[in-house]
Amino acid sequence: MLSHYVVTGGAGFIGSAIVRGLLREGAGTVVVIDNLLTGRESNLEEVRGSIDFQRADIRNYEEIAPLIRGAAVVFHEAAIPSVPRSIDDPVPSHEVNIDGTFNVLRAAHQGKAGRVVYAASSSAYGDTEVLPKVESMTPRPKSPYALQKLVGEYYCAVFSDVYGLETVALRYFNVYGPRQDPSSPYSGVLSVFMKAILERRSPTIFGDGEQSRDFTYVEDVADLNLKAARAGNISGQIYNGGNGGRVTLNQAWALLQKMEGVEIPAIYRTPRAGDVRDSQADTTAAVGDLGYAPRFSFEEGLRRTLEWYRGQA
Ligand code: UD1
Repeated sequence: MLSHYVVTGGAGFIGSAIVRGLLREGAGTVVVIDNLLTGRESNLEEVRGSIDFQRADIRNYEEIAPLIRGAAVVFHEAAIPSVPRSIDDPVPSHEVNIDGTFNVLRAAHQGKAGRVVYAASSSAYGDTEVLPKVESMTPRPKSPYALQKLVGEYYCAVFSDVYGLETVALRYFNVYGPRQDPSSPYSGVLSVFMKAILERRSPTIFGDGEQSRDFTYVEDVADLNLKAARAGNISGQIYNGGNGGRVTLNQAWALLQKMEGVEIPAIYRTPRAGDVRDSQADTTAAVGDLGYAPRFSFEEGLRRTLEWYRGQA
């Protein structure tokens, strides 16, 4: 195969947005590697005829190495996300997020791939004294998930230094948007809120709801990936992939109620273990080095996402 693109986790919520972005840009061959654990083939419905879908597991080096060999760029999105899931069930998330990432990097190096763009996580910061969070801050992971994603970053940097593999890590800040699966107890909070508001049910808020997040629209993150695949002189670097703003859960739920013209009070429960209090990205480095330009305000992203979930109901 000549200079194809690989998206691991390409049937997932973020991976499938990258696949669609690549095809929009006219990328030749796009190979999707996904074990369909959390990914869904329906996320790739409109592009099914234009991609090479490979059901394979990143825990299995032999399975993925031939698919990655000779790739121009590997977008590594395959992961078991969720902070609480990594606490409740740490073995699979460790195996996928650390061993799987190592396999992808090793396959990229052995197979002479051009670059690996890695889905890192803002959770690596933990609680910082200062906001917004800048890449130069010392990471303080608070959960197995945060640590696993940080190990992946370190592996990217080491593969760049030691083997000369081009890598770049993008620390995503709470990505949301169409196709995010709301059905698991580990689902992202906005997908859960969307489902609740459309069903006119109270959501559960863990803690006082004053924790804040830099919610980032999935299209902006996909665009960041495409830019990170092209930029020069960035190997081994880490970039924040956020929107730059900060919204509390109480504000997000209030906005949704306003959009729908309903009043439904949330139910408050004890805070979740491993939860970060506040999260907000300094996007200066990504804007400067990669030409990142997030386009979707929180209101606009939320509106589009809500319409998508309404269409699914
Ligand atoms: C974390 C990371 C994020 C990563 C994601 C992967 C941080 C700051 N962010 O997201 O970069 O991509 O893991 O899963 O660490 N909550 C409720 N009710 C619910 C569900 C969640 O109140 O029904 C609360 C959580 O306790 C948390 C917030 O909403 O305070 C966000 O939770 P979630 O959407 O799971 O994402 P993070 O854990 O912030």
